[in-house]
Amino acid sequence: MPTLTNDSVVPHTPAPADDDFLPGPVLLLGAPGVGKGTQAKLLMAEFGIPQISTGDLLRANIAQGTPLGKAAKSLMDQGQLVSDELVNQMVADRLAQPDVKRGYILDGFPRTLNQAEWLDSVLVADSATLPVVAISIVVSYDQLLHRITGRRISPTGRIYNVYSNPPVVPGYCDVDGSALIQRSDDSEEVFAERMKTFAAQTAPVIEHYRNQGRFVEVDGDQAVEQVTAEITCALKHLRQKAQKS
Ligand code: AP5
Repeated sequence: MPTLTNDSVVPHTPAPADDDFLPGPVLLLGAPGVGKGTQAKLLMAEFGIPQISTGDLLRANIAQGTPLGKAAKSLMDQGQLVSDELVNQMVADRLAQPDVKRGYILDGFPRTLNQAEWLDSVLVADSATLPVVAISIVVSYDQLLHRITGRRISPTGRIYNVYSNPPVVPGYCDVDGSALIQRSDDSEEVFAERMKTFAAQTAPVIEHYRNQGRFVEVDGDQAVEQVTAEITCALKHLRQKAQKS
């Protein structure tokens, strides 16, 4: 079982383990700050499969000044969603890369029913792919606000929190000493808008997958390692069931 250190949340290419196949693509669903990114990085290390974060992909496009990044920036800064058409195409391009063949973790996608239906159709068309496993992480509003306003990230994607996971030297990454930044959408005001967007557009996605089975709800208001343990246990249970059938 991986434990959380700031070193362990660095995106990297993990060594695949032959017997650690996943029971299908994993969707990490939940409100802003529930810990999707934190858990995705730990599961990536555990199972040797890539994390695909639509938020990270969009922020990379913004940093590179691409047309997609230019279209996305003001929407993200207001707590609104980027259009389904743009995001679905971005995910389609990512799923065409060879590293997803052993499975993958989708972090923050799908976020609308339209995106969910698009993903379902893509997976049905690919007969080699197992059905998805949807993991919904649940945390209370007040705790989320605390996490979001306390989050700091390094330029290479390490996730810190001034309250629960602070760097040794305040403001600087433990690993490479780079200055930590606060995301422009991590203010209290934008968080409130993101939560409204979540309730209106993403909560129905969670119900969509709850009704399909292969759905796991996890209490995210526990220590990081405990949340990882519950998700890993559910995935291994589903894998055993898939092996028997
Ligand atoms: P995105 O980047 O996906 O943001 P989000 O969904 O709001 O989620 P966050 O990244 O804020 O939180 P997280 O759940 O990953 O939490 P984390 O692990 O960092 O999207 C940003 C924007 O991009 C959207 O608003 C939208 O505009 C656009 N976008 C993205 N995807 C889109 C899509 N599919 N369609 C359309 N638009 C899209 O943890 C948070 C903090 O809590 C950290 O500091 C961490 O250290 C701490 N923490 C984590 N777990 C614990 C724990 N168990 N205990 C204590 N602290 C913890």
